[in-house]
Amino acid sequence: MAHTVVIFGASGDLTNRKLVPALYELYRKRRLPQPTRIVGFSRTPFGHEAWREELAESTARFAGESFNATAWQGFAPALFYHSGDIERPGDFASLRKCLAELEGEQESTRVYYLATAPRFYEPAIAHLGAAGLAEQSLGVRRIVVEKPFGGDRTSARRLNDALHRAFAEQQVYRIDHYLGKETVQNLLVLRFANAIFEPIWNRNYVDHVEITAAEEVTVGHRGGYYERAGVLRDMFQNHLLQQLTLTAMEAPARFEADAIRDEKVKVLRAIRPMRPEDVAAQTVRGQYAGYRQEPQVAPDSQIETFAAVKLLIDNWRWQGVPFYLRSGKAMSCRTTQIVIQFREPPHMLFEGGPRTALEANRLVIQIQPAEGIQLHFQTKVPDAGMRVRLTDLDFRFQDKFTGGIPDAYQRLLLDVMHGDASLFARSDEVELAWGIIDPILAAWCETGQPELFVYEPGAWGPPGSWDWMLQQGRQWFDVCPVLHYRNSTSARSPSTSQ
Ligand code: BG6
Repeated sequence: MAHTVVIFGASGDLTNRKLVPALYELYRKRRLPQPTRIVGFSRTPFGHEAWREELAESTARFAGESFNATAWQGFAPALFYHSGDIERPGDFASLRKCLAELEGEQESTRVYYLATAPRFYEPAIAHLGAAGLAEQSLGVRRIVVEKPFGGDRTSARRLNDALHRAFAEQQVYRIDHYLGKETVQNLLVLRFANAIFEPIWNRNYVDHVEITAAEEVTVGHRGGYYERAGVLRDMFQNHLLQQLTLTAMEAPARFEADAIRDEKVKVLRAIRPMRPEDVAAQTVRGQYAGYRQEPQVAPDSQIETFAAVKLLIDNWRWQGVPFYLRSGKAMSCRTTQIVIQFREPPHMLFEGGPRTALEANRLVIQIQPAEGIQLHFQTKVPDAGMRVRLTDLDFRFQDKFTGGIPDAYQRLLLDVMHGDASLFARSDEVELAWGIIDPILAAWCETGQPELFVYEPGAWGPPGSWDWMLQQGRQWFDVCPVLHYRNSTSARSPSTSQ
């Protein structure tokens, strides 16, 4: 079957940095359906050749070592450019003509990818609908909507309504690139392709769960966007809540889009809504020192670049088990990890055994960058009586598999072309996720509580977030996995050779 991918926002950063390199990689690996035409739509006046040349340069930069000039020569003729303005309905009529010419009489699956600034989503959707471009008599039509999907529940619902006026829900693919990460998908494999974890994956054995997405980068040139978003909208509503749902959900009956999404939605529905009076105690917010001096940032900005949130899931499996979500910019290292912190043994016979949660068993799922899983458990220290110490079993993808971990967009783009929506959010899912975030943002704005801590760049967020965890009788597990791995392997090598 022929495919056409139409990218709106063709001259933008996402197209250059992610979409075209991913499509090129799929071509190079011979996974891109043939023929696939890629049509860029944007206001910048370009010809096909000029766009190809620009993309050759950006793809070489972003695809890195896997860029191969010969493979690019094979891929580039599939790239076409159509200059147009999203806000002008007439430009969609000419797009329609251009696509008909490219595709000929042939039936073709079409994917419309909204890679524009979010304010153009609604006009693009309406004009696609009005120009008859969502109509499916000459092949399936799908639309991909990038994040942010709205800025709160009301705007997300409005966007869903706009989509549903032009497209059926089955045609809509709301992207969250975290779901395209191999290690996020591996969460499902870890839980549901192994029998040993599921019996202990519940309130009887788990003390709490931590989901951290720490970034070293600052907001840089994205200050304008960040001032409207903040870390709660930018990372929690989507990436962190997606990881929470995969960690907490029940096993779906089948590996199918709606079966998976039904289970995720059940988790979101079970998350206890945060009452305004609880927000100060259940959240931490911070801003890195220097944020207010970033370009396009207000000198008195109250926007959070760090947040920690405690969520409770009111169901049989998770009653009483807090899920701590945390994310920040300008942190000490880049790491996304999920920590399943198990309970302490009910009675300790041995010296040096668990006395704090940090000493009890722990499963650390490294989403990135040191992709892997570690199981922490107590071991007898040799020749030291019955002294015990926390040690770990350490699995790393890079040690067991060759070929590296592909960028999330490769998997997601291929899934859209094949019509598999398992790794995309459904309309009810995004609205429910906003329903968890909105009350927190509203309470922060109305009460100014909790205070906005300022933290030094290069730290694990504000020290107040540690105090907050201590008040809960817990501690964050803060290990920079790359450094830890480097240190632990170098520390291990002499002893293995002894
Ligand atoms: C994006 C956010 O969705 O995810 C960025 O807008 C963030 O602010 C990025 O930096 C993180 O993605 P990754 O894949 O680098 O963890």
